Amino acid sequence: MKRRHLFAANWKMHKTVEQAERYIKQLQLCLRSDLAADIFIAPPFTALYSLAHLFANGPIVFGAQNVSDQFEGALTGEISVNMIIEGGARFVILGHSERRHIFHEDNDFIQRKIMLALQNNLEVLLCVGETAVERSAGKTFQVIAEQLKNCLKDVREPDFKRVTIAYEPIWAIGSGQAANPKDAQEIHAFIRQWCTKNEKNNQESLRVLYGGSVNSRNAANFLNEEDIDGLLVGTASLDPNTFSEIVNLG
Ligand code: PGA
Repeated sequence: MKRRHLFAANWKMHKTVEQAERYIKQLQLCLRSDLAADIFIAPPFTALYSLAHLFANGPIVFGAQNVSDQFEGALTGEISVNMIIEGGARFVILGHSERRHIFHEDNDFIQRKIMLALQNNLEVLLCVGETAVERSAGKTFQVIAEQLKNCLKDVREPDFKRVTIAYEPIWAIGSGQAANPKDAQEIHAFIRQWCTKNEKNNQESLRVLYGGSVNSRNAANFLNEEDIDGLLVGTASLDPNTFSEIVNLG
């Protein structure tokens, strides 16, 4: 089954409001007019409201890079699901390896965020992936199955239709060393099979994105693989011209 490609940009802690607005104007100029793919951009929280409102009629869907696992409360520095929705978010990235490793988020914590996001009608982009050590110990499939099992344990149809999974090998993120597309394909097929077996998805409609050092030179090699339905791009998404070269492949 051919799934519509999804290109997601994770800007991380980059761009002021002014830089973000300039970027979107430029990106829109560079997009192919006959593009048949979805474009998701996750700017910093501070730029979300402005982008989602200024560019509400354009082809880009805006979202958040994170959200609290609590609806509201005394949680200094956190941001709630209602706040990002009011800011114009239609999706949220959860389980990113930087959240898991730098901010010590575990699967249970991520699972609570996923449930809250889905209950509030957001789409979820769930990231999974193994470390270099886990990979060399031959544990890649085991680690990913564990992440999927714990993070998605209470997600049922029809909510699962709003979940996209991004396979991001941790050793490939920001390292300039992308995975081999054939190896990634094997893992993407495994993710899809896992979801089908665990009654998350029977229609083959789930999109599984690859992320980790994607650039305009290697992007097409990933998109050629049967189970790679799009890309989650960090560094190469920061420049609108480079990101448009990637998106225009879709
Ligand atoms: P990268 O980041 O493209 O810079 O490797 C990807 C990501 O963290 O999602």
